[in-house]
Amino acid sequence: MKAIQIEGFGNPADVVKVVDLPDVDAPGIGEVVIALEASPINPSDLLMISGRYGYLPKLPSVVGQEGVGRITAVGNGVTHLKIGDRTIVPYPAPVWAERIKADARWLRRLPDGDVDQLAMLGINPPTAYLLLTDFVKLPMGSWVIQNAANSGVGRSVIPIAKSLGLNTVSVVRRDDVVDEIKALGGDVVLVDGPDLAKRVASATGDALISLALDGVGDMSTMNLLGCLADKARLVAYSAMSGKPFVGDARLLIYREMTLHGFWLGHWFKRTTPQDYVQMYERLAPLVVSGAIRTPVAQTFTFDQASEAVKAAARYQGKILFKTA
Ligand SMILES: NC(=O)c1ccc[n+]([C@@H]2O[C@H](COP(=O)([O-])OP(=O)(O)OC[C@H]3O[C@@H](n4cnc5c(N)ncnc54)[C@H](OP(=O)(O)O)[C@@H]3O)[C@@H](O)[C@H]2O)c1
Repeated sequence: MKAIQIEGFGNPADVVKVVDLPDVDAPGIGEVVIALEASPINPSDLLMISGRYGYLPKLPSVVGQEGVGRITAVGNGVTHLKIGDRTIVPYPAPVWAERIKADARWLRRLPDGDVDQLAMLGINPPTAYLLLTDFVKLPMGSWVIQNAANSGVGRSVIPIAKSLGLNTVSVVRRDDVVDEIKALGGDVVLVDGPDLAKRVASATGDALISLALDGVGDMSTMNLLGCLADKARLVAYSAMSGKPFVGDARLLIYREMTLHGFWLGHWFKRTTPQDYVQMYERLAPLVVSGAIRTPVAQTFTFDQASEAVKAAARYQGKILFKTA
């Protein structure tokens, strides 16, 4: 079967190789085999392939971290799934292979929906959900602020916040996506800049904001901090700017704000099959209904791996591998 493998870390376009691997064995007790249908190339895949991620596989390794497929074989003892069901591929199975064997305890049949959108259910929606719920319990009607609002994570934050009764300030880096993010349900959508705090106060009626989600770093972190209430939390989950974040220690000292980091990898390590399944049962309907929607810029086959990762590194919309 075809798969995308790396033998060394480096520039993704140079190191991804299409290989022909032996097919997976028949599933054992409690296992299923999934034929991959679609999988995105996320920024974290590019980080991992270039050797700069929080977890690095032992090489050589098939790469790719999330996707969906149809079940093609079911092992003994699996009664809740059948051949033909669509499921996500459970983390941390490397995904960019035509078939993947997985532990069925982590899987449920997905509802029918757009396969490309379901392929992006595995990582960004749970990240958004946990960013909104793990650090502070916000009463309904509270405001949350986020930057990188046009990213997959940012687009998930908006409908999930809405489902929790929260209002969002979404900060983007360019004017041309403001209307689109408003159409997704963003309550206030603003372009980043040094005067952000003033514009946020005016648009929210001086709302007290206790949670900021930072996917950008650099001066954008400082701009978010400027919008926050005393004792607020800022959670950094990414640094798309590629630069260290800028902050003012006086906000932490005199106004008791706190900075946190978040990585879904830690949740994957500590979660149980029951909580894992429950998370996706909560989020899949939001993807199927179109409430969580990430535009797909282009799709590629495994044979176009190098071209595909090059396109993904331009960060101009999601790039997906499709197998059929
Ligand atoms: N910590 C975690 O557990 C976790 C989980 C999921 C994702 N992440 C991280 O979150 C980030 C977003 O992931 P994603 O899949 O949501 O991304 P995505 O959908 O591929 O979108 C990338 C986003 O980055 C923005 N961007 C690109 N370069 C930028 C720059 N120089 N300054 C500011 N913004 C920039 C783009 O802005 P435009 O829309 O304006 O083009 C776009 O919105 C990635 O770094 C990813 O690794 C972390």
